[in-house]
Amino acid sequence: MEYTEFSDTGLTVSRIGLGTWAIGGWMWGGTDESEAVDAIRHAVDRGINLIDTAAVYGMGHSESIVGRALQRHGLRDQVVLATKGGLNWSEDHTQVWREATRERLEREVEDSLRRLGTEVIDVYQVHWPDPQTPVEETARAMESLYRAGKIRAIGVSNFDTSAMDAFREVAPLHANQPPYNLFEREVGDQVLPYCRRNGIATITYGALCRGMLSGRMHSERRFDGDDLRNNDPKFQQPRFAQYLGAVAALDAFARTHYGCDVKALALRWLLDQPGHTVALWGARRADQISDADVIDGWRLDDDALAAIDAIIAEHVTDPVGPEFMAPPAREAG
Ligand SMILES: NC(=O)c1ccc[n+]([C@@H]2O[C@H](COP(=O)([O-])OP(=O)(O)OC[C@H]3O[C@@H](n4cnc5c(N)ncnc54)[C@H](OP(=O)(O)O)[C@@H]3O)[C@@H](O)[C@H]2O)c1
Repeated sequence: MEYTEFSDTGLTVSRIGLGTWAIGGWMWGGTDESEAVDAIRHAVDRGINLIDTAAVYGMGHSESIVGRALQRHGLRDQVVLATKGGLNWSEDHTQVWREATRERLEREVEDSLRRLGTEVIDVYQVHWPDPQTPVEETARAMESLYRAGKIRAIGVSNFDTSAMDAFREVAPLHANQPPYNLFEREVGDQVLPYCRRNGIATITYGALCRGMLSGRMHSERRFDGDDLRNNDPKFQQPRFAQYLGAVAALDAFARTHYGCDVKALALRWLLDQPGHTVALWGARRADQISDADVIDGWRLDDDALAAIDAIIAEHVTDPVGPEFMAPPAREAG
């Protein structure tokens, strides 16, 4: 496993982090706690020391499972625990909206600490920018939590460069968590260079593009219940076939040139991008994360990067981004 410093926080993190959204069940068709605990234990055994969750993942369920797994296996001291606040939801869990107010963040951090069974959150992130709350209020609230010792690092997620500028006028910023993978590169132009210039660590999400780049996805796969891929435009035909065609060609390229599969290629590609710190790999079973060391000991050169771009351009003629995941703002009033 590769490790790196995390901004100027003094924390050292593995360059692969475990993403636990699916472990919360919500928007992933449910969860199995016992398998999830095994996955968390297994990830740490493989050298992964950053675990990312959020209050909204299962409306507390993912955080609770992470907390129980760390406690059961005595792992808290071995991991850098990252979570997020600043979203709110309806009682029946069908509506989610952005709410990064001081009041909400102060209450949420206490709920997260309790569910995670810890006295301090290593990285606390504002999940989405909230257009209805002045960014100064959000930033001040985060700085207060930091000064009070409830969090070790201040993070944001899905913030563009101007939102980060406004935030940093008020408070220090140690990390940003944007979407980034072989098929979703929008943040590569401005957000990653900005973070690199300003010493802000990046925890990028969707490394496997919601399983599309796992090498196991196929056109007959059916998604249970509320699984977000039922509404993900990449997983709808005829686009689905284009993306799967690119994955098959990338897999062949990976096997020929590096003796690995497309999943390893997708992760290595991320880690080789300038300004990139940690790639989140979402997994809910131990077998999904069993070969986390696939990234070790090799790099992609310029010829390989160009060949990868050509493969994607050839197959994906109607690309689409990850915008469908963005939660709405609060309704005015
Ligand atoms: N800040 C944000 O707004 C935001 C948004 C999205 C995600 N995130 C974070 O980023 C993390 C990762 O993103 P993600 O979970 O959306 O997507 P991801 O890492 O691209 O994909 C995760 C899914 O891929 C499948 N998968 C993983 N490993 C596999 C393997 N070895 N073989 C076959 N399938 C495999 C699993 O789906 P199945 O089990 O269904 O097959 C898994 O749930 C999240 O868990 C969360 O922590 C943050």
